[in-house]
Amino acid sequence: MNMKIEELKQLFDNQLFKELENYSDSLLSSSISYLLKIGGKRLRPVLCLAGNQLFNGDLNTAMPSALALEFFHNFTLMHDDIMDEAETRRGKPTVHTKFDENTAILGGDLMMIKAYEYLSKSPSDLFSNLFNRFNTTAEEVCIGQEMDMDFEDRNDVSEEEYIQMISLKTSVLFGTSLELGARTARCSPKDANSIYNFGKAMGISFQLIDDYLDSFGNAETFGKRIGGDIIQNKKTYLMIKSLNNLNANEKSELENWISLKEFEEEDKIKAVKELYQIAGADKDIIDLSKHYNKIAIEELNKINTSNKTLKEELIKLSESLLKRVE
Ligand code: IPE
Ligand code: IPE
Ligand code: MG
Ligand code: MG
Ligand code: MG
Repeated sequence: MNMKIEELKQLFDNQLFKELENYSDSLLSSSISYLLKIGGKRLRPVLCLAGNQLFNGDLNTAMPSALALEFFHNFTLMHDDIMDEAETRRGKPTVHTKFDENTAILGGDLMMIKAYEYLSKSPSDLFSNLFNRFNTTAEEVCIGQEMDMDFEDRNDVSEEEYIQMISLKTSVLFGTSLELGARTARCSPKDANSIYNFGKAMGISFQLIDDYLDSFGNAETFGKRIGGDIIQNKKTYLMIKSLNNLNANEKSELENWISLKEFEEEDKIKAVKELYQIAGADKDIIDLSKHYNKIAIEELNKINTSNKTLKEELIKLSESLLKRVE
């Protein structure tokens, strides 16, 4: 039976909530259940299960990877919110805000351990390959996060460096999610490569939109504080393009906001957003996101699948990530 993406999400959520029933009511387990239960689009596990279905796999063989990916993703979010000093996620207080910082550090660590526990339940002949791909990706995400933090203190970050940083912190996990699912269906190496490239390009397009929404989105639907990246001096494409495109006066105004140690947060957010708009960076970032979305679809079209309905649905999903701005 061919399953739709929405059904794959339902299937995953049912399994996830079943898993969470086995968690104790200790503080650490509560922090994990809290983060997983307050929402989340479940993009990575859904992509993993879809990767499996594109190649006619048995969904049961992909579920361990899907769980591992969602746990890994949420582990990175728990730690990311400490690093980014973010107080809101999925429209609710972040774990370190609701509990405390140590709980969020340890809760994140425990989620990583659980991720490996789930992954180890994969078919034994596939495990070594899945494990290696998972680990390479996990290492890349750490490096991407390190670059993201380092860039806060630099004003000369290039567009290439930015794309490399978001490829590592976000998009490789999208690629690997699809690839692990496809590998559990024993796809060809060529298809594994194309499906990975599809996810990677989609992930870049996705992170560009996340960066756009962090400044120009709606707090209620976005679930995160608007302007958080501006407060933290994140070198998003909006910031890099603005530093490059603004005239000398405007550029020094932007640099001044970046250098200020004491400021009214709402004043900085308003002023920097205006400069982004003057620079046209708000349009540029959407155009670049569309560009990567196009590359994504070209990659997806290279795969050899008989499940055309799901392929079409994946194209729609990729495009819908862009529609979040409309
Ligand atoms: C948030 O990812 C982190 C980024 C890579 C931007 P998602 O937007 O997929 O987070 P959830 O899981 O749906 O909340
Ligand atoms: C997060 O990027 C990427 C990882 C957690 C690996 P962001 O810092 O932009 O994600 P959000 O905006 O907090 O969700
Ligand atoms: Mg971050
Ligand atoms: Mg963050
Ligand atoms: Mg963000």
